Amino acid sequence: MLRSQLAGAMPIRRPVIRSLATYVPPRQLTNADLEKLVDTSDEWIMQRTGIRTRHIVDPGVATSDLAKEAALEAIRRAGLTPHDIDLIIVGTVTPDMLFPSTACLVQHKIGATRAWGFDLSAACSAFTYALTVGSQMVAAGAATHVLVIGADVMSSIIDYTDRTTCVLFGDGAGAVVLGVSEDPTLGILDFEHQVDGSGGPALCMPAGGSLRPASHETVDQRLHYARQDGQAVFKFAVRNTGDICERILARNHVTADELDLFVSHQANRRIIMSAAERIGMPEEKVVINIEEFGNTTAATIPLALNTAVETGRLKKGNLVLLASVGAGFTVGSVLLRWAID
Ligand code: ACO
Repeated sequence: MLRSQLAGAMPIRRPVIRSLATYVPPRQLTNADLEKLVDTSDEWIMQRTGIRTRHIVDPGVATSDLAKEAALEAIRRAGLTPHDIDLIIVGTVTPDMLFPSTACLVQHKIGATRAWGFDLSAACSAFTYALTVGSQMVAAGAATHVLVIGADVMSSIIDYTDRTTCVLFGDGAGAVVLGVSEDPTLGILDFEHQVDGSGGPALCMPAGGSLRPASHETVDQRLHYARQDGQAVFKFAVRNTGDICERILARNHVTADELDLFVSHQANRRIIMSAAERIGMPEEKVVINIEEFGNTTAATIPLALNTAVETGRLKKGNLVLLASVGAGFTVGSVLLRWAID
């Protein structure tokens, strides 16, 4: 852990986000479109979730395709080439296929000939987890340039006849290149993660794994789609997003006043705002872009960071708190000082 580094001892290698890029497919699925598919309304979706539209891939476009676009641009913005990348970590719950890993597919597609890599499965917490694993590899001196990607094609596992899930999700990808910070006061400062496996049944894709391999029956029973107990997930997310934020802030003796930006996983506007209120973050310091993208699972945090950059709300030196809750349940948080001009 990097806790001691905040407490005074200077890190040998401070990991830092050197660049950020995102990609969403051009096609949109609006609330008005969904009104034609299921018994729902723009008013209900906006009121309960804050989502107005989401981006959806065309048939044949996979997670690795979205990841490739974000990755190449992130590498370019870092002033590097794919050859400079040592390690690729892809956070996703919708890999192109069970194996090979999407990291291998991305490695080949972008021509990162020196890199090794793997996928990381933590659902909506995949980006905070992958950022932590990648930054620890940099801190340890095991890698110099790590490509961390959060990418999901949620439309591939969503049942568009189920109004309780189909209104929530979208497709997208975000990538960052991690490196060694020249200024040790900037970069990834700390993390805090946890899992609660007892929450597994509340949000899962029941078939397609070793427990229930694909069969005519599993397809007939629509078990290859995401299923959730929305209220159980909502309650867990509200409580645990707030809890983990409080813990990481307290440990680092950081008050909400000192934070410049709160960037939470974008599942539901109400979940984000209740966590923000709990830690005392005013609305102007909270990034919410769920209206345009929906819940893109592993991609929400990089997409939200990108929105903050594009709207001039994220500047070099800013103290930023990332937080996530996802299927598992997985819970994550990362405290960082933004280092990009
Ligand atoms: N349109 C219209 N009505 C709907 C829809 C819809 N799309 N979906 C559900 N309803 C109905 C329900 O059937 C129910 O009707 P009833 O009262 O006649 O039974 C009514 O609306 C209320 O349903 P609730 O489930 O109580 O609605 P709630 O306020 O809890 O909102 C929601 C549902 C939006 C799913 C919420 O529970 C939620 O956001 N949960 C978190 C789920 C989530 O974000 N999962 C993503 C992954 S995990 C993560 O990212 C944290």
